[in-house]
Amino acid sequence: MNMLELIEKKRDGMPLSSEEIGFFVDGVTKKTIPDYQISAFLMAVLWRGMTDEETKELTLAMARSGEICDLSDIPGVKVDKHSTGGVGDKVTPILLPIVSSFGVPCVKLSGRGLGFTGGTIDKFESIEGFITSVEPSQFREKINKCGMLLGGQTEGLAPCDKYLYALRDVTGTVPSIPLIASSIMSKKIAGGSDAIVLDITCGSGAFMKDKESAEALARQMLAIGKLAGKPVSCVLTSMEQPLGNAVGNILEMQEVMETLAGNGREDVKTVVLTMAAEMLKHTPYGEKLDTETLIAQCGEKLSNGEALAKFQELILSQGGMLDSTGHPVFVDEPFEVMTVFADSDGYVERCDALSVGEASCLLGAGRMQKTDVIDMGAGIKLHKKVGDMVSRGEPLYSLYTGTKDTVSEERIDEALQKMESAYKIGSLPVAKIPEIMGVIS
Ligand code: URA
Repeated sequence: MNMLELIEKKRDGMPLSSEEIGFFVDGVTKKTIPDYQISAFLMAVLWRGMTDEETKELTLAMARSGEICDLSDIPGVKVDKHSTGGVGDKVTPILLPIVSSFGVPCVKLSGRGLGFTGGTIDKFESIEGFITSVEPSQFREKINKCGMLLGGQTEGLAPCDKYLYALRDVTGTVPSIPLIASSIMSKKIAGGSDAIVLDITCGSGAFMKDKESAEALARQMLAIGKLAGKPVSCVLTSMEQPLGNAVGNILEMQEVMETLAGNGREDVKTVVLTMAAEMLKHTPYGEKLDTETLIAQCGEKLSNGEALAKFQELILSQGGMLDSTGHPVFVDEPFEVMTVFADSDGYVERCDALSVGEASCLLGAGRMQKTDVIDMGAGIKLHKKVGDMVSRGEPLYSLYTGTKDTVSEERIDEALQKMESAYKIGSLPVAKIPEIMGVIS
């Protein structure tokens, strides 16, 4: 068997056998296949797709490319969560402490930014000292310490996905149902949690642009979960505009702190609380309670400060620094480059998530190449969102870089142009965009 044959077979739309998929996964993991052949293969999969059987084989082979954690000796139902990626998606740092404050052990394996979307690992690494590389052998200790852990992929856990993820990010091969499903589900299976709740984002700032493809992705993940013996539920959420008002690593973590302090935006809270309720439904605590009751109870954890205290525990448990007021100490401080003001009265009709995500990347908040170093202070603050009334002269959005930024004037201009195209102001009132598009379980 050789890699060229596999690429050609996939290029010509033929399904691969489980041995061929195993050969590919093994070669990626042992680094015996060069990046150019892996990239060509990924592009062929993106165009030709995979059958359900191939996707299943790919997922299981990727999960087995490293250690499969056995968390069975940790009491309780362990629930994990994952998002298919979005712009301004700061759900995990708020959700995890809420669910954990119900005594549910949470093992959360997150990723870095992918394409124009942000990554939870990058966001946590904006906190001074926070260690995201938790080896599977340390999972128990962390869970015993604070009831939850947040880890990135180490060499030990689904290493094949770690390699493919970074390559897909820079080769335009992210938006593929089999590649997304296998990437997410391989990590989740390897992570050892008992149940999984997925946030399937849908819209301009997501990899699934319409509800049909989001549902197809959800179905694929549910099928893989069934095969792996892990209950899965999928919450379909809108990503037509960014979630919340901050995009960029430190800016988003600042919004996380506001939300945990009880002052969050409604759109962020709606997604977080819906996801939290779905996670609790998989546990003995939540299985007999209805969604509304669970959402209200989770909301209570935000308003009574319990979730904030848990979040602080998580930061300390993983080596992160808090100041004397309990706020995370960030590695930098966002520096406001400029604020753009509305030039007419009206209503925000559009605040396009993809353009905002791309503008944020241009400012340095995301990677253009595998080796790029993220500017943690870079990003965008949105002062107005879809449905908001706006008066001439009111601030619409602000652009930020870090204090040590090296972004050229051209890149800032390009980001500004993206932002100008992101917004549309009309003269008639516009309805708010509902965040939740459905739940499939
Ligand atoms: N998140 C992942 O972990 N993988 C993807 O492919 C997309 C989002």
